[in-house]
Amino acid sequence: MSPEAGATQLPVPRHVAIVMDGNGRWAQERGLPRSEGHRAGAVAVQRTVEACRELGIRYLTLYAFSTENWQRPPAEIRALMGLLREFLDNRLDDLVRQGVRLNVIGQIERLPRLVRSRLERVMARTANGTQGTLTLALSYGARAEITAAARALAEEVRAGKLAPKDITEQALAARLQTASLPDPDLVIRTAGEKRLSNFLLWQLSYAEFWFTDLCWPDFDREVLRQALDEFGRRQRRFGGLVHA
Ligand code: IPE
Ligand code: IPE
Ligand code: MG
Repeated sequence: MSPEAGATQLPVPRHVAIVMDGNGRWAQERGLPRSEGHRAGAVAVQRTVEACRELGIRYLTLYAFSTENWQRPPAEIRALMGLLREFLDNRLDDLVRQGVRLNVIGQIERLPRLVRSRLERVMARTANGTQGTLTLALSYGARAEITAAARALAEEVRAGKLAPKDITEQALAARLQTASLPDPDLVIRTAGEKRLSNFLLWQLSYAEFWFTDLCWPDFDREVLRQALDEFGRRQRRFGGLVHA
């Protein structure tokens, strides 16, 4: 993803993670069913993937469905899974053309078989993409992810493959589903909520947060530019001191 000509000279985040919230409210405000909000949200996803490519962001991670979202009414879950299938079918060629590799994190085994098979197909077809990585967090929960990593470490210790003293931050990070991704530099949440809702709790330790009151279906390249501008002006200290 090469930065577009004339783009800001401020630092561009390598990895942006987004909590795409407010589809339901967007629909409600228009007197539409919630599923129409999700449909408009899928269009915003497409726009955002494209904008990231143009703006030089190499890693984009989108929170699309949380472990807690399984509590929603079955009809809404069905609508979401249907849209996900459509998205994967419709965007495959574009992703290949753009050189964007698809990656998934979350409890994929809980997803319907038809969604899983599409995900596998798109991941296989885009595996050689070198321009960027789009990670979808699906049936994802950070606590479940960290718990699974802790369990994996415990199994290795029990099997005699790992000593307790080798349980380091790096060892745990390597057993998270995000092992191949850099930590996000910037996390964005739409629709005015200011919480993480069980998203990437480990990986966001030093991320910059940016919030907008806009609902996800209204998110576009211009809003992303605002977030990037502000990110570029922030001083990241990582606990140290920055000398003027
Ligand atoms: C985000 O929009 C999409 C998902 C969580 C799947 P919501 O469906 O949470 O929309 P609101 O928060 O009810 O407006
Ligand atoms: C967070 O949104 C999950 C996703 C965006 C997929 P929610 O709408 O589920 O979060 P809460 O319930 O407001 O915390
Ligand atoms: Mg919500």
